[in-house]
Amino acid sequence: MLIPMEEELINIKNTALSFILEAEDKKSLEETKLQFLGRSGKLTLALKELPKLPIEKRGEVGRLANEIKKTIENAFSERLSQVASETIAKRKGSIDKTAPGVLPNIGHMHPVSQVLYETVEIFKSLGFQVADGPEIETDHYNFEVLNIPKDHPSRDTQQTLFLDTQGTNYSPGEVLLRTQTSNMQGRVMERAKPPFRVLVPGKVFRYEQVDASHGFEFWQVEGFMVDKNVSMSHLFGTLDYFFKKFFGEKTKVKFVCHNFPFVEPGAEAYISCIACKGKGCSFCKKTGWVEILGAGMIHPNVLRAVGINPDEWSGFAFGTGLSRMATLKFEMDDLRLLTNPDLRILEQF
Ligand code: PHE
Repeated sequence: MLIPMEEELINIKNTALSFILEAEDKKSLEETKLQFLGRSGKLTLALKELPKLPIEKRGEVGRLANEIKKTIENAFSERLSQVASETIAKRKGSIDKTAPGVLPNIGHMHPVSQVLYETVEIFKSLGFQVADGPEIETDHYNFEVLNIPKDHPSRDTQQTLFLDTQGTNYSPGEVLLRTQTSNMQGRVMERAKPPFRVLVPGKVFRYEQVDASHGFEFWQVEGFMVDKNVSMSHLFGTLDYFFKKFFGEKTKVKFVCHNFPFVEPGAEAYISCIACKGKGCSFCKKTGWVEILGAGMIHPNVLRAVGINPDEWSGFAFGTGLSRMATLKFEMDDLRLLTNPDLRILEQF
């Protein structure tokens, strides 16, 4: 025969279990748990009566109470996970499959990259190969090989950012951020055997006061070819072809004498202003022309420095302002827009 204490415990168990089974959500489950197992829960209170039992009964009833506690706890956690998956299933059923979706943000190429890829494509069709090189460069490749010795005045035109060489094997002033992609002329030519046609897109750096038309970092594309009997007319023809392909057949290109120590003769190229079609506007400072590149026949000293015989081979080189090309192509009136990460700007191009 059961004594009342045991009967009460079993009653508590049955009520608890049926409450648990009926609970529909996490909240009511938690409440049920508190009601039975909490500090003033039914089971807890019943257990407090245990010491009142005759000593020989205490062990047995105590064990029963513990079992009941475990049963209630197990039922609780089982129901909890059931309720969780039921909630998910309910939510799934309520998804409106016909509701319009949220359009994912799809990026596109940066204006500089667009211009870069287009440039590469055009030169590839002319048989040029693409080379890549370091932005951190030595004085040797950025200047010396290019016929620009340490005391040459033309160094002043390319304000240079030097790197701290302390603690390295380089002497001060020997390591810098390249000021021109021409640094790759020496690097490529001392390894490649002529004939070759090479294109080098890349970022360059100068210690410049930043304004609408000057940046301390900008993009250039260097091109050079070495072959037998290459002449200035090959250079003019190549660049004229390129600019017409890139900016349109109506684009005019003019060449003006200019000195660069690594080319002889040297020239600067201007194209008719894309914004005003050559009529004169604020973009071209009312001249109708925009300066776009430096070029010339590779100086015999440069060829000699990289081990190519200038009596046998000749070549031309040019360096175009790719950032300038991008601003022209997209008619941006400020170079700084190209390095502005604001998506509202970039999404327009
Ligand atoms: N590197 C020159 C500059 O940045 C441009 C150039 C390249 C000129 C190749 C001649 C030949 O101004």
